[in-house]
Amino acid sequence: MALPSVLFVSSEVSPFAKTGGLGDVVGALPIALKERGHDVRVLLPRYSHLSTAGMVEHAQPVAVPMGAGERWCKVFETRLPGSDVPLYLLEHDALFARGYIYDPPTGQPPDQLLRMALLSRGAFALARHLHWTPDVFHAHDWPSALVPVYLNTAEAHAFPESASVLTIHNLLHQGKLPATLLAQAQIPQSEFRADSLEDFGGLNLLKGGLYHATMLTTVSPTYAREIRTAEYGCGLAHVLDFRGADLVGVLNGIDDKAWDPRTDPHLPAHFDAHELSGKSKCKRALQEELRLPVRDDVCVLAMVARLSRQKGSDVVVEAAERLLALGCQLVVLGAGDADLEHALLDMNVRLGDRLRARIGFDDGLAHRIYAGADLFLMPSRFEPCGLSQMYSQRYGTMPVVRSTGGLVDTVENFDAKTGAGSGFRLEDLSADSLVDTVAWAVEAWRGKGAYAQMQRRAMQKKLGWGEAAAQYGDVYRWALERKRGF
Ligand code: ADP
Ligand code: GLC
Repeated sequence: MALPSVLFVSSEVSPFAKTGGLGDVVGALPIALKERGHDVRVLLPRYSHLSTAGMVEHAQPVAVPMGAGERWCKVFETRLPGSDVPLYLLEHDALFARGYIYDPPTGQPPDQLLRMALLSRGAFALARHLHWTPDVFHAHDWPSALVPVYLNTAEAHAFPESASVLTIHNLLHQGKLPATLLAQAQIPQSEFRADSLEDFGGLNLLKGGLYHATMLTTVSPTYAREIRTAEYGCGLAHVLDFRGADLVGVLNGIDDKAWDPRTDPHLPAHFDAHELSGKSKCKRALQEELRLPVRDDVCVLAMVARLSRQKGSDVVVEAAERLLALGCQLVVLGAGDADLEHALLDMNVRLGDRLRARIGFDDGLAHRIYAGADLFLMPSRFEPCGLSQMYSQRYGTMPVVRSTGGLVDTVENFDAKTGAGSGFRLEDLSADSLVDTVAWAVEAWRGKGAYAQMQRRAMQKKLGWGEAAAQYGDVYRWALERKRGF
């Protein structure tokens, strides 16, 4: 059998639209699949920040059935950078041309269901328009979780041989919406039931997708186990347990070309595991850029994250003064929960000689922080996979992480005797435990010897997408076997 062809359907694709790791994954995994020989293409909404200059505009628009009629969408075509993977942008200004990807600051938009339904149903309209029947429709998180629902309902006759795969990048976000919206999306009322889209009297898009997808994946083996428990299941553990035989954990990789300290265009100097002097230059440049005292002997701690409870950002904020008291500097780049943003801005003023917080999203600065810091803080409450701890390892910045989800699968504890490991792990999530673990890490950093061995080895770990792409290839094959029955 030829390798399965795949249409990725996603609300984020780096570098076009990204709020976190979902964008990174959908920007990189299709390229690795293409390199293995899959015919893979990607669909993304055309948000207003996305310029279509230089893209090919298809002569014919596509009609996506929606509400009582249909929504007409223009299609723009380009390639994922550095590859020949086609990326299609679905343009429908009334729903997608907004200054945000998900929510405006005022909260969920009233037409959220229509927006995500248009993306999901648009996948089938696009396939028809291209005269192409993908073997697999690959959906990601709640925004495209209606893809498997449509494939089993409104599109079942048109795509009888196609399977669906739904990847869970983050179970916390489920797309919970008022039930009254269902009719707008042309989904049969019969899907409003507990083993489909109904959840506590409302709609839950992710739940519908979890019941309908031919196969489910999540982004690390540990998270695949965790989400079947009440503690991590976000109210859907019973669904995941029910679908347990079809749920596979595939560990994310990283785009090792975009995240390479030898060539990264965002960095003022380059380095690798054998020659770390460039890293010292990056550290000095970072201290200068952030107007912190330029000192080699001070350990620079960093956090780059969505400021949220998921990431344990609240614990970093709570522990900040005690972390500084260890003789460290602390650099934070992030945006998110308003109370955490305010607390950090306040500390910027009070502790400005040792702490610098930048509130906002800044990709270039993120790269310079991964390169210039000494230790990376990621004490997540839960972490489906996490990419930042892998970027930081690649840049020789050892991560301090909580033992949860993908962090367990990607960070091994430091062993001072042998220099083994790739970071430092804490078990409980508390300011005390974070401070203790950072104190241990700083001591190791000062000790150099075994730490330097760990650092060099971690920088050379194979973290690319090759392995994951092979595993997704298996998942697609299994999905087709389930669907077609052979
Ligand atoms: P998540 O997807 O849960 O946010 P990941 O670790 O998988 O976590 O991916 C986060 C990605 O988003 C990384 O590429 C990280 O560098 C990036 N990122 C997070 N916050 C910011 C920010 N404020 N500025 C720039 N990049 C950020
Ligand atoms: C999510 C998760 C993160 C994961 C990313 C990409 O945003 O929070 O852990 O790395 O998706 O799969």
